[in-house]
Amino acid sequence: MKQRMLLAAAAVLWLPLAACMQPHSGAVTGSVQPIADGSATGIGGAVASSEANATVAGSGILERGGNAVDAAVAVGFALAVTYPAAGNLGGGGFMLYRTPSGISFFLDFREIAPTAARADMYLDANGIPDAAASTRGWRAAGVPGSVIGLYQAHQKWGRLPWTDLLKPAIHLAEQGFHITARQADSLNRQHLAFSQDPMAARVMIPSDQRSWSEGDRLVQVELGATLRAIAESGEDAMRKGPIVERTVAASIAGGGVLSAADFANYEPVVRPVHRIEWNGLALLTATPPSSGAVFLHQVLSTLEGQPLAEWGFRDARTIQLIGEATAAAFRDRNRYLGDPAGFDFQWELLLDPAYLAERRRSLRPEHYTPPAADLPAPPIESTETTHFSVVDANGGAVAVTTTLNGSYGAKVMAPDGFFLNNEMDDFAAQPGVANQFGLVQGRYNAIAAGRRPLSSMSPVLVLRDGAVDAVFGSPGGPTILTTVLQVLLNRYVFGLDPQAAVRAPRFHRQDLPPVLRFEAGRLDRHANQALDEWGQPLSRTPSIGDVNAIFRDLEAGEWRAVADPRRSGLGLVLPLRKN
Ligand code: DON
Repeated sequence: MKQRMLLAAAAVLWLPLAACMQPHSGAVTGSVQPIADGSATGIGGAVASSEANATVAGSGILERGGNAVDAAVAVGFALAVTYPAAGNLGGGGFMLYRTPSGISFFLDFREIAPTAARADMYLDANGIPDAAASTRGWRAAGVPGSVIGLYQAHQKWGRLPWTDLLKPAIHLAEQGFHITARQADSLNRQHLAFSQDPMAARVMIPSDQRSWSEGDRLVQVELGATLRAIAESGEDAMRKGPIVERTVAASIAGGGVLSAADFANYEPVVRPVHRIEWNGLALLTATPPSSGAVFLHQVLSTLEGQPLAEWGFRDARTIQLIGEATAAAFRDRNRYLGDPAGFDFQWELLLDPAYLAERRRSLRPEHYTPPAADLPAPPIESTETTHFSVVDANGGAVAVTTTLNGSYGAKVMAPDGFFLNNEMDDFAAQPGVANQFGLVQGRYNAIAAGRRPLSSMSPVLVLRDGAVDAVFGSPGGPTILTTVLQVLLNRYVFGLDPQAAVRAPRFHRQDLPPVLRFEAGRLDRHANQALDEWGQPLSRTPSIGDVNAIFRDLEAGEWRAVADPRRSGLGLVLPLRKN
């Protein structure tokens, strides 16, 4: 759990610092647009991801003159090899990209429901959702978007040759890499699940059936060949031909519903970026099917005018108010959001200033508001998604959150060496009934062929005076949203330095179940007592989130790449090099 952060001196100070240090205030407002807001100045580049080899792969691409998108593509493919629980070819994700000239894009390469998917496909004979069916095995998989998404990102915005970006991943798959103690533990915990899938058993269980140990070398021959095919044929390798044919055959044999046409027709979508004006900063956030934009806008607006900075981040009043605001935002998220293709209303209505002003007025400090209905807390099984952040020397910035949903997704491996997602569980298998994260979602997130399930993944870019000031995101299902919120507040309201903003204790409240979860041993004793007295149900959890972030350090005039000390990622900062 050692946090590693390598820093190199940057040669320039890029902004008059005094101008940036002034306190800001002002209302939370937002707009949806392709954004052009002036140029950013660069100092070196930086990469932060959950796995050291992947961060090194991305930094190598930056050093060779690649831009932030090139580096992000290399990190994404490397993670598919070195972090197979979440990095992926068989999943999907979101990319926020801001060009050096200040244009921002949101590329949605999330999985879609197969053509054969039906609203009731996970209901049993009595109409009750079968949680195992939407989380385990081929039937739980949506049509993957990662390879096609990364390919199209490179086509639109990349600079280096495509094949160069795949080289680190191919090397890591074919030559293998030494696993960490954490990775060994992760693989060992899935021994039983892997043993039930012939491919996963072959690749992810040592041939002599023993347990994995720290330092063992994990070689993935089939995955290496698949990456070579992708290097050669680009997205076509995942649209048609032998890899798709074998994947579809395995899916059919395993009771899944993926078809060759699903792979051939998958398309990523460039969606609007939602810009939130807050605290003198601009936040660039992801719009539906991400719930990031709506959630952050609502919560920041609800908290406006509260003396949080005065109270501090450990204070019970701060925690309770944030919890009340996030519970209210989750109510709207779960009820109204989903794939915008299914909306019969403008989701921007959820950001109506009068609507949010009313919520602000009804916020009651030192008070617990119970939800309208209650539910037992579900077991929360998965903590595996992954976020990585990249900035380049010219000020380009990329935030990617990508996932298989559950740890190793549906826990089935395609014959070509990659795990399939279980993203179908992010739909409401039955509106009104909780999914694996305890999210009780509505009809706008019902299963329909070709639709994307609602997501909590929330990559964020922060601009200060028109330049990128922070890039971050996190895994954690619904806790992604509260984690991202807390990092924002820690840095920009409580004034914590980059490392402390990521390290600070986290908590989470999502409406249903009405519990405020906090990291065990990290809630202040007085706060615990006060929250308890106010009637707030509390529960402990080992840890929340895994934020891989890049911040601009105004005083030093340098990037700070921070890998969350909760896990074992790596942040690297490169010296100045203008491309
Ligand atoms: O898109 C979502 O909201 C989920 N599939 C994310 C899953 C996740 O973060 C798993 N745990 N870390």
